[in-house]
Amino acid sequence: MSRALANKAASKRHPLPAELDPARLPSHLAVIMDGNGRWARQRGLPRVMGHREGVEALKLTLRLCSDWGISALTAYAFSTENWNRSGEEVGFLMTLFERVLAREIEALDREQVRIRFLGDLVSLPQGLQELIATATARTEANTGIHFNVCTNYGGRAELVRAARHLAARAARGELDPEAIDEVCFAGELHTAGERDPDLLIRTSGEQRLSNFLLWQLAYAELHITDVLWPDFNQQALLSALLDFQGRKRRFGGVDSTS
Ligand code: FPP
Repeated sequence: MSRALANKAASKRHPLPAELDPARLPSHLAVIMDGNGRWARQRGLPRVMGHREGVEALKLTLRLCSDWGISALTAYAFSTENWNRSGEEVGFLMTLFERVLAREIEALDREQVRIRFLGDLVSLPQGLQELIATATARTEANTGIHFNVCTNYGGRAELVRAARHLAARAARGELDPEAIDEVCFAGELHTAGERDPDLLIRTSGEQRLSNFLLWQLAYAELHITDVLWPDFNQQALLSALLDFQGRKRRFGGVDSTS
């Protein structure tokens, strides 16, 4: 398909599949995009090609979530542990983030997406930090889906940072330690102001949280699929949402029908 045709197809709205109940969609979806390296290896390609293809799967997921009425999508793009990968792979990922952001910001803004990057951003390359600051400011007032990209993100580091902020406020006499409750604590997390995810999807079959949104996922439903992230498509998202709609959420209480 020509690029012009592909763009036209991409700008078409996706109707909500009839099997889904619009009243019971997750409000906030979180994704651990795993399996890019394996996807590439299976094709005899360098690992980084899997990341490149993974961007396309993320774009499709964002568009589907937006079209289907999901209010927030939070994706795990780069963990604090990912610095341990080869210098070549880390460098590729940072350049990829920069290129994708520079290329997509226009369309994201046009489609009313509000983009934020969650994590320890000061350790990222300067150029990427600047693009992030520009994209965040440019889309801040947008009224569409909230798209959170966890970059140099670690759940434990986020909790420690929140504790440190609260302790500093208490030490300055601005906060009574007795007043620290769950709402107050959540307000110090990178996700402050965002509802907790209702559903976590992890691709490639791994059954771990990998230090992702440790606080926020307390009551999330988990959907693990063997699909590798670059292959994650409309059918895979639909399966995850149908799985979610089949769950009885009790939040620690008792199911009223049992
Ligand atoms: C995990 O697969 C994937 C990553 C560490 C990178 C994910 C990043 C993207 C999809 C790009 C997102 C881009 C933007 C701009 C938000 P893996 O490498 O761990 O795969 P493996 O487990 O098969 O080795």
